[in-house]
Amino acid sequence: MTTFWSWYITLLTIGTLVALFWLIFATRKSEVHKNPTEQTMGHAFDGIEEYDNPLPKWWFMLFIGTLVFSIGYLVLYPGLGNFKGLLPGYAYLEKGVDEQGNEIVVPFSTQAHLPKEQQVGGWTGNHQWEKEMARADAQYGPIFAKYAAMPIEEVAKDERALKMGGRLFASNCSVCHGSDAKGSYGFPNLADSSWRWGGDAETIKTTILKGRTGMMPAQGPAIGEDGVRNVAAYVLTELAGRELPEGSEADIVAGQKIFASTCSACHGQDGHGMALMGAPNLTQPSAFIYGSSFTQLQQTIRYGRNGHMPAQEDFLGNDKAHLLAAYVLKLSLDDSE
Ligand code: HEC
Ligand code: HEC
Repeated sequence: MTTFWSWYITLLTIGTLVALFWLIFATRKSEVHKNPTEQTMGHAFDGIEEYDNPLPKWWFMLFIGTLVFSIGYLVLYPGLGNFKGLLPGYAYLEKGVDEQGNEIVVPFSTQAHLPKEQQVGGWTGNHQWEKEMARADAQYGPIFAKYAAMPIEEVAKDERALKMGGRLFASNCSVCHGSDAKGSYGFPNLADSSWRWGGDAETIKTTILKGRTGMMPAQGPAIGEDGVRNVAAYVLTELAGRELPEGSEADIVAGQKIFASTCSACHGQDGHGMALMGAPNLTQPSAFIYGSSFTQLQQTIRYGRNGHMPAQEDFLGNDKAHLLAAYVLKLSLDDSE
């Protein structure tokens, strides 16, 4: 802000406060009229008249209170033009390197060495949050780093690491995968031993870091309504091992032909899926995320699906993803035991 605007805002703000003080004292009355009926303000609305009495004391004090508060605020926090407030300057976070040459955030250095215009003054919610994050990183960073140097399979045997992984999971993953990691409609169960992209330690970590997008193209236009019904019936009965709902008719042999020519490129000849493209195993209906009823299968095949797992790399970083991979791995190992 240029000096002109800084002064403009400062004077306007202070001027307004002074004017408010003046207004509230100048118009203050202290005495209550003995005979109120004669001392009305002269307004009448719908037969209601206003007596010319002073403000109630508590109301008046509330006014004074807000004015005093605003002055206190403007002294402590930024608000008056370029004035940054008297609260101790916000500790700036810097990028630094540790002994191993890894990039880390160095918290709580003062701003004194920074050019004036880069210094950030006073308290703000953002600064508070950054400070807490930096404190947490400083506290837990070395522990995370220790685990990150161990193989994921080893980390998955460490009680303490799993506890930390569980906490990370609760705050970053459970919104989609559920607090028990068992998934829900559209979100895969991570606590079983069936995988779309692969369940070995490194693959799980890659999934977390880089994210995944399932690409099941709409098949309706290519194979038509009959084709959709027939191939869905084939998947349901021959692959998933379930029965067609009563009253539905479909040509399962025709469905099988479509599967071989159209679907097997991604889901494999035998329907066991292909981890490379996240094409699920169609012989495990309990792990379907878009439902395994005849209707839901047709819906999936007709219109396609695009499940998206957001990449966590920029957000959580390598070390936390490492712990999370161990946590998820452990869940699925427990399941297969
Ligand atoms: C280009 C590759 C590709 C082709 C071709 C393809 N699929 Fe898929 N399919 C996928 C992928 C990838 C997914 C996972 C989509 C997701 O996770 O959102 C999927 C998901 C599905 C699902 C949902 C499973 C669940 O978890 O609910 C069914 C059912 C399915 N495919 C059946 C078929 C059938 C039948 C055909 C042939 C008519 C077919 N697919 C053709 C790649 C393909
Ligand atoms: C916004 C919702 C969302 C969040 C948040 C999310 N995921 Fe996912 N995740 C998904 C979806 C959707 C898929 C399935 C992608 C697909 O269709 O192939 C998935 C897939 C996965 C897979 C692969 C499962 C398989 O069968 O191969 C793993 C592992 C995974 N997520 C772990 C995590 C972890 C760990 C976190 C927390 C850091 C997380 N996810 C956060 C939505 C989410």
